[in-house]
Amino acid sequence: MNFNNLIYAVEEGICTITINRPEKLNALNIETIAELGAAFAEAEASKEVHGIILTGSGPKAFVAGADIAEFSNFSVEEAKEMAEKGHDIFNQIENCSKPVIAAVNGFALGGGCELSMSCHMRVAATNAKFGQPEVNLGIIPGYGGTQRLVRLAGKSKATELLLTGDTFNADEAKAIGVVNHVVEPDQLIIKSKEILHKIAQKSPLAVAQVLKLVNAYYDKDVNGFSEEVDEFSECFDTNDFKEGVSAFLEKRKAVFLGK
Ligand code: COA
Repeated sequence: MNFNNLIYAVEEGICTITINRPEKLNALNIETIAELGAAFAEAEASKEVHGIILTGSGPKAFVAGADIAEFSNFSVEEAKEMAEKGHDIFNQIENCSKPVIAAVNGFALGGGCELSMSCHMRVAATNAKFGQPEVNLGIIPGYGGTQRLVRLAGKSKATELLLTGDTFNADEAKAIGVVNHVVEPDQLIIKSKEILHKIAQKSPLAVAQVLKLVNAYYDKDVNGFSEEVDEFSECFDTNDFKEGVSAFLEKRKAVFLGK
């Protein structure tokens, strides 16, 4: 697929989506957000793809935020439309049935921090810098930051970070539960691929069910426990279940086909 602001590449079953506006530190303009929606739809539908890495182009930034120049003259209505579109796409990423890792290679500020938090996991390079600095602009996060930062870091720490606009580095992000791993910059994609290749050895059906149920924990309209009972029992009607159990009993490695 060709995009104006993204690079979309698939290799060994992993789709890498790179936000490619390095001269603007990969700031998210409206076109880029829409392209993210199309890229994730393509990756999710592709039979070739088992996992997705989202990263930023250039050495400095994952994403330095929503494009401030673009929204500087927005009316209330335009701001609402911008936030709603962003929420739709970030929810699409969070609800993807294939694992999504944000490989955070520098600034992840504002919408960049929010985008990384909409992914299922985060691997950060040692030079990563996170933050929700919107209060410095007289606004608040508009792409889910007030909700997802609380989920990851807890109410006390999230409140402090959202109110002060303080940035936090990769090690601090790991300490408060925002990132899974911190690695040297040259190991960022390698580590992200290692995790996705490990997951690729499991049943794609089970992977999709786990992703759905983890999200269900945060969905006020869904009882995650009863949802788990349903999804668990449905596993028993799959070839992957038969293959997994047979392989264990026959002392061999399972080969899952996602059926
Ligand atoms: N929106 C639009 N443009 C942005 C941007 C954003 N969020 N972040 C960076 N840019 C642009 C800069 O305007 C600059 O463009 P120019 O060369 O045409 O002037 C270019 O990217 C490089 O940024 P610059 O500020 O020169 O880099 P720096 O290394 O000195 O500073 C940051 C890096 C990330 C500290 C700084 O760019 C910054 O504070 N960005 C805004 C972060 C923010 O508030 N995000 C939340 C938005 S809601």
